[in-house]
Amino acid sequence: MVYSRITGTGSQLPAKTVTNHDLEKIMDTSDQWIQERTGICERRIVEDDETTGTLAEQACRKAMEAAQVDPSEIDLFIIGTTTPDLIFPSTACLLQKKLGLPDCGAMDVNAACSGFLYALNIADKYIRCGDAKKVLVCGAETLSKITNWNKRETAVLFADGAGAVVLEASEDPGILSSHIHANGDYADLLTTNVGVSRGWDAMEENDGKPEIMMRGNEVFKVAVRTLGRIVEETLGANNLKKSDLTWLIPHQANLRIISAMAKMLDMNMDHVVVTIDRHGNTSAGSVPLALDEAVRDGRIQRGDLLMLEAFGGGFTWGSALIRY
Ligand code: UT7
Repeated sequence: MVYSRITGTGSQLPAKTVTNHDLEKIMDTSDQWIQERTGICERRIVEDDETTGTLAEQACRKAMEAAQVDPSEIDLFIIGTTTPDLIFPSTACLLQKKLGLPDCGAMDVNAACSGFLYALNIADKYIRCGDAKKVLVCGAETLSKITNWNKRETAVLFADGAGAVVLEASEDPGILSSHIHANGDYADLLTTNVGVSRGWDAMEENDGKPEIMMRGNEVFKVAVRTLGRIVEETLGANNLKKSDLTWLIPHQANLRIISAMAKMLDMNMDHVVVTIDRHGNTSAGSVPLALDEAVRDGRIQRGDLLMLEAFGGGFTWGSALIRY
């Protein structure tokens, strides 16, 4: 049996930190509200000359270095992102040569905040069926570029960052299973106002830029319910129990959602990797960023059982159960 194993992780955050107190100066909000309702204290935001691609490039380099894999060995490259550098070529294609990858398949996957788990799911399938041996998988975003900085409902939440993993074929597990779902009936609850084929007339509203629009309260309720279902599905698919889990590595959208998931899984918060306080919501970047942080600081050890989960616009949701 062939499994895919994570052999290296990497991540990259922009240098610029924006605190809740910084935001208090430019909009009607407070550090207390943001911390109480979201768990966020500060976030990282790119400078004008940084992009999703510049963050993804560094995260990918670090992941390949940690895996001790030469870029020429990679035979598939997938980036989960909803904020690509360009409409096309994909961010993966733009980075392929910079990273020194061969002419392997390279693609972006847009599944909003579930983008990394969608990309991981695809990569795992390629390895299991024998079509790929080493896959570079990244989740990267610059959500600050599509944030309306005049709208406190969204501006305090979203941020920038990237994380990456190298997956390699192995006889030892590995990703035990990964699961993806979507339900377009909820498209309007979390969306952008502008795309390519429609929405250009809305550009006047945010200085000519697209913006994220979210009915947060409604998203919150569906997110908790849906994530509860997918973690049950994931454990059930492997005949494993909640008590078998070592670490929960959740999407970092709201500390209250993360705590609700920990409660559902009967896990103490000291077995949950939390970065939202310092990173905010980096969408597809959040899960691999959290994973890399906990691998590098030694919390996650080989043999640990990890539950990764995410929920986002679409709605999309996904999970992965990993014997690290
Ligand atoms: O990553 C993709 C998935 N995303 C999520 O899962 C996000 C899910 N939603 C959430 O995390 C939460 O719903 C939010 C953090 C977005 C909002 O928290 P909430 O507790 O649901 O607040 P609310 O939207 O019900 O708003 C409560 C009050 C409102 O004022 P009134 O009507 O009670 O007077 C808002 O106008 O808080 C007000 N408010 C703010 N006040 C200060 C909304 N945003 C802010 C703000 N600062 N930034």
